[in-house]
Amino acid sequence: MAIILGIESSCDDTSASICVNGKIYSNIIASQVIHQKYGGVIPELASRVHQQNIIPAVHQAIADAKIHKNDIDAVAFTRGPGLLGSLIVGTSFAKAFALANGLPLIEVNHMQAHILAHFIDENKPSFPFICLTVSGGHTQIVLVKDYFDMEIVGQTTDDAAGEAFDKTAKMLGLPYPGGPLIDKYAKEGNKLAFKFPEPQIHGLDFSFSGLKTSIMYFVRDRLKDDPDFLQNNLADVCASVQERIISILLNKLKKAAVQFDIRNIAIAGGVSANSGLRAALNQTAEELNWNVFIPKFEYCTDNAAMIAIAGHYKFLNQEFVGQDVAPMARMKF
Ligand code: KG4
Ligand code: ZN
Repeated sequence: MAIILGIESSCDDTSASICVNGKIYSNIIASQVIHQKYGGVIPELASRVHQQNIIPAVHQAIADAKIHKNDIDAVAFTRGPGLLGSLIVGTSFAKAFALANGLPLIEVNHMQAHILAHFIDENKPSFPFICLTVSGGHTQIVLVKDYFDMEIVGQTTDDAAGEAFDKTAKMLGLPYPGGPLIDKYAKEGNKLAFKFPEPQIHGLDFSFSGLKTSIMYFVRDRLKDDPDFLQNNLADVCASVQERIISILLNKLKKAAVQFDIRNIAIAGGVSANSGLRAALNQTAEELNWNVFIPKFEYCTDNAAMIAIAGHYKFLNQEFVGQDVAPMARMKF
């Protein structure tokens, strides 16, 4: 019997979760709306709001799981990567909670946890598999050989896929975070209406900055000719941009599948909530006979359930860290 408290605070979501023997009993996510009016996450504000949210989130996670604080066997927390000020709040809370209750501490890498979210529910991938991890800060193709034996075989050389969505949204006058809104408008648009360039980038790596620039010039030029262009064409622009981002991601994923001769393919991270990406992946799976693993929506964007499940597997190996552990803004696998 192992009960793990998971804590996530790497960016702008404060989250706490209880995992009992590998099953998620609660997953509380307090999202921070304050950043919306600034069009992006303000690190200083994020850490202040984590401070306010973390204790209520943990209380709620314990209450929802119908356990008692004293039943908890270990505390798992996101050590990195992420915003340092945000990570400090979760790490300090986890350390204090562990110290006060005489519990072991488990450090978790946020990017590994996104991938390990696939082990929350019944349909678990078998090793090895390839995971495309696409979030606001990262775009990675990861060769997953075991729970904690992962190799990044491709990654972005500039912006992340989530950033491409969010920055496009900003150029279109949409609030932060723009990814879900582009997804929403794209559903009513024609994805073939406008053509955006595909970057020519070597191997399994990605680049999104050229696409961002081309969208910026496209919007500027169209608005010059027609000031109402965005009002009248928003859905088509969203659908066309989304289509290009998806094709960039899937082309590299196909390349990786061939290169490593692996047909177990997963996606993870905030952008894996994108309905266009999910549909395109399912279609590719049919064409290429892949076994695909797509997380439930609540486990795509940042959440502590993925930290708790990662903590569960580390607990089985008794992989603990000491009270001297410090957060790491840039944390490698
Ligand atoms: O994994 P995540 O919650 O946080 C990071 O670790 O970065 O990912 C957040 C990113 C944001 O860029 C957000 O716009 C994007 O995921 N995102 C989406 C969708 N839902 C969230 N992008 C496209 N379509 C969505 N439905
Ligand atoms: Zn994330």
